[in-house]
Amino acid sequence: MTKPPGLPAQLAHPFSPAGRVDPYPAYDWLRAHDPVHRDPMTGMWLVTGYEDCVALLKDPALSAAAGQRARSRDDDLPVSMLTTDGVDHARLRAPGSLLLGTAALASVADGIAADTDALLDRAAERGVLADAVEELGAPLATAVLARLFGLGADRHATLAELARAASVNLDPLAPPHVARLGRAAMGELTRFLDAHADTLGVPGPGGVREAGGAHESPLARLAADPRLTRREMLGILGLAVVGGWQPLAEAVGNALYWLLPRPGVRAALRAAGREGAETAMDELLRLEAPIPFTARVTVRDVRLPGGHVPAGQRVLAVLAAANRDPAVFADPGALVWDRSPNPHLAFGGGPHFCLAARLVKQSGALLLERLVRRFPEAALSGAEPRWAATLIPRRLTGLGVDLGPCVPDRAASGPAEQPAAPGGEACTAAEAAHA
Ligand code: HEM
Repeated sequence: MTKPPGLPAQLAHPFSPAGRVDPYPAYDWLRAHDPVHRDPMTGMWLVTGYEDCVALLKDPALSAAAGQRARSRDDDLPVSMLTTDGVDHARLRAPGSLLLGTAALASVADGIAADTDALLDRAAERGVLADAVEELGAPLATAVLARLFGLGADRHATLAELARAASVNLDPLAPPHVARLGRAAMGELTRFLDAHADTLGVPGPGGVREAGGAHESPLARLAADPRLTRREMLGILGLAVVGGWQPLAEAVGNALYWLLPRPGVRAALRAAGREGAETAMDELLRLEAPIPFTARVTVRDVRLPGGHVPAGQRVLAVLAAANRDPAVFADPGALVWDRSPNPHLAFGGGPHFCLAARLVKQSGALLLERLVRRFPEAALSGAEPRWAATLIPRRLTGLGVDLGPCVPDRAASGPAEQPAAPGGEACTAAEAAHA
């Protein structure tokens, strides 16, 4: 079969300035005409079909270690499980459940719920948010990581600053001077986490260990695991920050961008409760995957359902393209909030499937659920937000939100619809509890 000649000239290449804003027309064309495509611009293979991406992510002939090495950080930084394969990877991943498994998540759930309420209280006082990613997404991501690590509120600002600086490591096409800064930031983040881990066994003033303190955090359990060296443990923490902080923050922005202009969906979500919000979160992640692709290298010739890739090639599994494959998702460009099943690839697949998928769905859904209940008239406001030029994560800048009148959230006990607080006054979670 002859290969098609390549992306038609009228379609912006997905990595060009215009394609970074709207890559979907190019992805649609590639998926339909050449789902396993050698891209002449980058020399990489772009795999855009759902079935091909699933096969690729599972195939041991595609090395994550080699695929991620191009953007792996200083050699003297701890190894991350994302840059290992096979048994090395399995050994590093297994203890990760101490940080992100069911018991760990249960132990931080109440704390994250309280942080989310406090975050929405602060937002209610402002009423209009100039940038919802900065004012909702980033503080949520900081609070979630701080709960996992047992960092108090007084360390949130430092964690956020370090996480932001280290996040440039996500972008595989960052220019060299930016990548250099990212590597330096990764070193600083690692030293911060190392110093924090040192304090875990240390009792507080008067030799007292506060109940629920850092020594009881998921991080403390991970740090005590004899299967990991200290550096390996720090590698897991560093990956959680770089792979988790900004993607979670941006996922909130991307979700609001789709959700807020659709009053019917917001009303359905108010009625659907937590489970419905988690279903919607999956759909919102499908539509705008914050991590749109992930890299691998072929260690031998590979035959995928949609084509053949020779050995030694860099391959991108384009998760964002697979997530809109019409062979799997009916009406793939539309938000179908209750889509089920929804086997999207926003969290990847195969052995490197995101360890925090449950955490992300739970914490994202909690925020959305409480936001649509407390601010039933929330809407996008101000100038049209812009998709940033970064490739990973896919993110919006200038996402203005007018929260509108706030109503007490009696989600646990009361009916979904509540009368608005007079004049749109701030209504806090504490007020709601006493209402
Ligand atoms: C919306 C937010 C997130 C998205 C979309 C996301 C997506 C992904 C994807 C696509 C991968 C697979 C990468 C690959 O196969 O090359 C991955 C891996 C991973 N993610 Fe997430 N992630 C998110 C948040 C988080 C958070 C908050 C954490 C930790 C607190 C986290 C921890 C990890 C880890 C440890 C891995 C590596 C797993 C392995 O190599 O076995 N992620 N994530």
